[in-house]
Amino acid sequence: ARIGVLISGRGSNMAALVYAAKRADCPFEIVLVAANDPEAGGLALAEAEGIATWAQSHKGMKRAEFDALVDAQLRAARVDYVALAGYMRLLSPEFVTRWAGRMLNIHPSLLPKYKGLDTHERAIEAGDRVTGCSVHVVTAELDDGPVLGQTEVAIVAGDTPDTLAGRVLIAEHQLYSRVLADFVARETTPEWIVAKVGELAL
Ligand code: GRF
Repeated sequence: ARIGVLISGRGSNMAALVYAAKRADCPFEIVLVAANDPEAGGLALAEAEGIATWAQSHKGMKRAEFDALVDAQLRAARVDYVALAGYMRLLSPEFVTRWAGRMLNIHPSLLPKYKGLDTHERAIEAGDRVTGCSVHVVTAELDDGPVLGQTEVAIVAGDTPDTLAGRVLIAEHQLYSRVLADFVARETTPEWIVAKVGELAL
């Protein structure tokens, strides 16, 4: 399967997908890395790996207008599935519908806990002993789609949001490629996913 990855920053999850795709038995390849920030650190990394990149700032553009540009890039690259990897931008309903059932996201919490930002800070403040990361199918609601896989990460006494983020990131890098591989290799979309995502785009 052909994957387009959307990033906004350093792109370590994108890199983990790129490295996973190098294994002979991996059922996906990364064919495009697109960013809504030309300064995103992950772009140089993708270029060095010989992957096509596209970047443009979304500033001054309407959400749907910018997303249409991204969609045009994904189509031109004949992308089958979209992987959001630290893409820090809400997507327009049109874009979400266009990729319904074919777009995944990774989120640094055990969803449905701590949707949105500052997940590690919130987990520590709540006194949680365990947090983790989740990969889910993207729906119109933020961090709300069907969860495909999670990894738990223990919170250690003295953890700060930064130390915890560093350990959860290790788990993210392993989880994302595994879940994506299973997702693209499946023969049919399970009913429980269809029920939550609605009409699947083709
Ligand atoms: C990751 O923790 C991801 O879960 C979150 O933002 C971070 C992105 O990191 N949404 P990177 O750009 O993949 O290194």
